[in-house]
Amino acid sequence: MENFAKEVFSRESRYESGNLLIAGIPTEALAREYGTPLYVLDQKDFFFRAESWKSSLERHFGPQAGTVYYAAKAFVCVEVAKWVDQLGLGIDVCTGGEMAVVRAANFPAERIQVHGNNKSEKEIADALAIGAALVIDSFHEIERASRLAHSAGKIADVFLRITPGVEAHTHEFIATAHEDVKFGFSLASGAAWRAIEEVERASSLRLIGLHSHIGSQIFSGDGFTLAIQRVIGLLAEYRDHFDRQIPQLDLGGGFGIAYLPGEFSVDPDQILASMSEVVKSECATHSLNIPTISIEPGRAIVGPTTTTLYTVGTTKDVALDNGVTRRYVAVDGGMSDNIRPALYGADYHALLANRVSGASPISTRIVGKHCESGDIIIRDIDLPSDIGPGDILAIPATGAYGRSMASNYNHLPRPAVIAVIDGGARTILRRESEKDLLALDVSENVRKLL
Ligand code: LLP
Repeated sequence: MENFAKEVFSRESRYESGNLLIAGIPTEALAREYGTPLYVLDQKDFFFRAESWKSSLERHFGPQAGTVYYAAKAFVCVEVAKWVDQLGLGIDVCTGGEMAVVRAANFPAERIQVHGNNKSEKEIADALAIGAALVIDSFHEIERASRLAHSAGKIADVFLRITPGVEAHTHEFIATAHEDVKFGFSLASGAAWRAIEEVERASSLRLIGLHSHIGSQIFSGDGFTLAIQRVIGLLAEYRDHFDRQIPQLDLGGGFGIAYLPGEFSVDPDQILASMSEVVKSECATHSLNIPTISIEPGRAIVGPTTTTLYTVGTTKDVALDNGVTRRYVAVDGGMSDNIRPALYGADYHALLANRVSGASPISTRIVGKHCESGDIIIRDIDLPSDIGPGDILAIPATGAYGRSMASNYNHLPRPAVIAVIDGGARTILRRESEKDLLALDVSENVRKLL
């Protein structure tokens, strides 16, 4: 049985007589060379997707095209930050840790945007020191940023994150722009306008843009349309009141990708064409100049590029009440390298990657090796009934929020990320070792604090 579904694998993935090849390399060879679990990142695919978002933004917004900020939270390491820089994209970071990684890649500060709903004073001060743009998320932060910029003798360029009250049709935990959410300044309550007034009063802050991010894994343009209409309404209100325009608008990320056979990733050209229509017509309605438009895709760039390889360790059959047999197939990773199924009920696809099987399909549940029943990677998938110890399973579309949300639960070392291109492979994030796991354990003498 063959269940290679091209649309969920990276662009350089091929399936040949039972073997999954990525960038021309049999994944079984990668598993042997680097061990499993393993994240295999198709570098050409990453470049292709990053460039597509950049060129589509330029095509549809012309001189008003701003920056495509790659959302580092989806996945970042020093090498990936270097690629993003090389491609001329910007990068969005939301913690000092992400900032440290992009700084280690010498990422130019003028293309870094700093997010976060609760930035520390140090995170704000560091962003100001290098001249990265801050996306301000709260009234406390307006005060902190203006004080810190003032004492550094700087005028800081800032965006305000606006919550436009849009119900994005995605999982509750990854929707971000409805009213009852921790992010940003709500439009409906008037908080957004008060934030604008406060920034205007702060002589050390310069309001260069508004920002809106409605959520993640979104396919329909409706949420974006509503958000654009509302935020452009606010730009018009600003112009009417201050008699000048806020020059930039960042419409965030959240573009959906295919996880299951038959699904398709959002096409940058299509979504940006429709977003640009809405921006243009809304600006015309309000007689506004079209602002510089930026976006922040994370998942849509890195998600489809990566396939996780696992080795099967054990299997067992369970007879269900309806007379069906469920085959449990346990692999050598699990919820520590992919928390998304447990956290969001996310669905994934799997492929037997190391051999042809003529065996009939059986209803299979792919589980990990953690001490937890919820440690499920795929709840239900038909896979060949002869899958057993030593087989390699490939799970595609794990590039976004896979390694970046990985944990050491049960003291599992986090897997390596290898980049493959043109028949070659190299590690870009090494596998953790048991030594790494023990590196934080200390046995201090008691210090009297009273
Ligand atoms: N910009 C901002 C302000 C964001 O908060 C996010 C994601 C992005 C851009 C990038 O969104 P993307 O294009 O990657 O969807 N862990 C969840 C997703 C959380 C997204 C958080 N913010 C998941 O695994 O689905």
